[in-house]
Formats: sequence, C-alpha cells, structure tokens
Amino acid sequence: MKAIVVEQHGEIDQLTLHQDYSVPKLGAKDARICIKYCALNHLDLWLRRGGTGDRLTLPRISGSDIVGIVEEIGDEVRHLKVGQSVLIYPGFGCGNCEACATGKETMCRQFQIIGYHVDGGYADFVTVPASCAVPIEANDLSRWAAVPVSYITAWNALVTKGGLHINDTVVIWGAAGGIGYAALQIASGIGAEVIAIVGSPDKAAFLQEQGFTGHILTRDKNLSEEIRKLTQKRGATMVLDHVGAKTWQQSISFLSRGGRLITCGVTTGYKSEIDIRQIFGKQISIYGSWMGDRSDFLQVVSFLQKNPSHLPYLYQEFALEEAREAQECLEKGNHVGKIVLNMDR
Ligand SMILES: NC(=O)c1ccc[n+]([C@@H]2O[C@H](COP(=O)([O-])OP(=O)(O)OC[C@H]3O[C@@H](n4cnc5c(N)ncnc54)[C@H](OP(=O)(O)O)[C@@H]3O)[C@@H](O)[C@H]2O)c1
Ligand SMILES: [Zn+2]
Repeated sequence: MKAIVVEQHGEIDQLTLHQDYSVPKLGAKDARICIKYCALNHLDLWLRRGGTGDRLTLPRISGSDIVGIVEEIGDEVRHLKVGQSVLIYPGFGCGNCEACATGKETMCRQFQIIGYHVDGGYADFVTVPASCAVPIEANDLSRWAAVPVSYITAWNALVTKGGLHINDTVVIWGAAGGIGYAALQIASGIGAEVIAIVGSPDKAAFLQEQGFTGHILTRDKNLSEEIRKLTQKRGATMVLDHVGAKTWQQSISFLSRGGRLITCGVTTGYKSEIDIRQIFGKQISIYGSWMGDRSDFLQVVSFLQKNPSHLPYLYQEFALEEAREAQECLEKGNHVGKIVLNMDR
C-alpha cells in the first residue's frame, strides 16, 4: 500500500512516501479499513518532531482522524460489515485495568493513540481494533474525518470535565483553529455564551461567515478588559486553553469566582508561572483533557448527527503524496478549521 512514513524525528523531509509498504496484519478482533480521508492534527507534528517526552517508536505512520470503508474484518467481529463507512475512535486502552473497565480508557496507563503510538491514517489502509470503528452514514465523509481528535477533546474538556451548561460564559482561544472551532461549535450548540479569541480580523470574519453570532475578540485587544466588560465585571465561568505558556496567565485572569480552566494543549510552550492566590482566592478549578473517552466520541457523533451544521470546516484537501505540503500548511498557522488528506485525489 501507499503510505507516508516518519522514519526519524525531525523536519518535514522526514515524511517519506512509500509505494509498497506492507499492509498491516489483521487479528481476530480487528478491522482493516480502506482509508478515504485522514485529517491532520498538531499531534502529527509532535510525532514528526519528537521530543514530547512520550514513549514513541519509529518508523510510524501518522494520522489519527480516519474515515474509510471496512475492507476486511477478523473472525470475532460481529458489529461491522465489509463495505460499510466507518469513523474511527482514535485510541484504545489495555481493556483490562480499572480505567478501561469503567470507560475511562484515556486514563489507562497503556492507552495508545492511533497515528501516534501505533500506525495511523497517512496510508491507503489501516488495521484497528474493530471496537474503534463506528458505522456512519453520511454524504460528507471528508468533514466527518476531521471530527475525532478535536471534537472529542473539546467535548471531554467542556462537557465531561467542565460540565458546560447553558448559563456558562466560555472563552475559547484560537477559536478558528482545529480544537478551538470544535469547542466553539459544541459550546454554541449547547447554548452557552461564547467569547471567541482569534489572531486576525480575517479569522474573525471567517467565524461570522460561518454564522457564529457570539462575541469575537482579536488578540491585539486588551483581552482581560474586554472580557470584564462583556461579563459585567464578573469574568467568564470557563476558559478553554490549548495554547499554553503564552496564554496561561491571561486565561486565569479571565475567570470569574468559581470559574473552570480547562487545559489540553501547549502550542506555545509548557512552562508558566501561576499566582497561586488567584486559584484559591477565586476558587478556581483546573482540569486537564487528554483526548476523550469512547463515551465522549459516541456523544460527539450523536451531537453532530442531530446538528450537522456544527460539523468541522474544511480549509484544504491534499493528496496523500502532498503530506509534506499539508503539514507545512498546518505549521504556518494561517489556516482556519481543518486540513485533510484525500486518498482518492
Ligand atoms: N489534549 C489533547 O488531547 C489534544 C487534542 C487535540 C489538540 N491538542 C493540542 O491543542 C493545540 C491546538 O491544536 P489544533 O489542532 O487546534 O491546532 P491549530 O488548528 O493549529 O490551532 C491552534 C490555534 O492556536 C492559536 N494560537 C497560536 N499561537 C497563539 C498565541 N501566541 N496566542 C494565542 N493563540 C495562539 C491560533 O489561533 P489564532 O492565531 O487565531 O489566535 C491557532 O488557530 C495543539 O497544541 C495540540 O497538540 C491536544
Ligand atoms: Zn487499561
């Protein structure tokens, strides 16, 4: 099969196209998927660059967000049929520990992310535990491909961990990006008040074009002041921060008394100082999200099937052979929404 393989950690030239890579073996509980689309995530960049502190082995095929057609199933698989369209939940735990037994597989010490710890979707085929494959009936499979990582992380962060409800005012950094846009769609769908932060007027215009009617602030503003004004001095009840070092202190300052800060990313670095008094003085809670569990995934699928207007926005499609260009596009950061590889291009 054709595959883009990360041979060594490093720059973009470490992504190598193989024309005849061996198709992964199929176990009794596995499904082999003929991949139609694979969306990009920052995780793909972390895998290629290395140095995250995660235990990774190479060579590896990136790509955690996969939509495809079931090509073959193992002898013990009952819930799938060959030819069905499926969306892949991008991870699996050991299946035996307490975390797995209680549906918290992302807390399993052996949780493996497809396209990071094991081979993923920058290829014609992928073999996954069949339990990760969820049948999906949709015309716009490319948009569904962009759902899993960003939407389940955003759902786990806002809803499962943060308990988001209609009376919340939630601040979302990078609201035109992958995870930010997912969070904006989920929070708007639930009916919360959303304050979206973006880096440029173009991204603000994009959100308006997409029908977003909440507040939009560009980063050049005095954000704390603007958020105080928008919340009648109370502050926001929730902030989603996936940006890390450059925004962490501001995020805490945005919060109301009793507010919740959810962190799930460190695009700009992972070290920051905290004025501890702000945590207990304002009685803030801090939560961390590492993707989301299968229950988050199923809720996201159900939410999007009922509200298809909240599906991801696709910025650009690339062919598999153009994976380097696709990752460069993600790295530049000028995109809005998601970037996908289309295997039929
Ligand atoms: N924990 C998890 O399971 C999980 C899951 C998915 C993603 N993540 C992490 O979340 C992060 C975002 O992922 P993504 O896929 O959404 O990436 P993305 O599409 O590239 O979006 C990143 C956004 O960050 C914003 N940003 C960049 N520098 C900034 C700065 N100095 N100040 C404020 N905002 C800044 C940009 O928005 P503007 O330029 O518009 O401000 C950009 O849209 C990554 O670090 C990723 O690894 C974690
Ligand atoms: Zn486990």
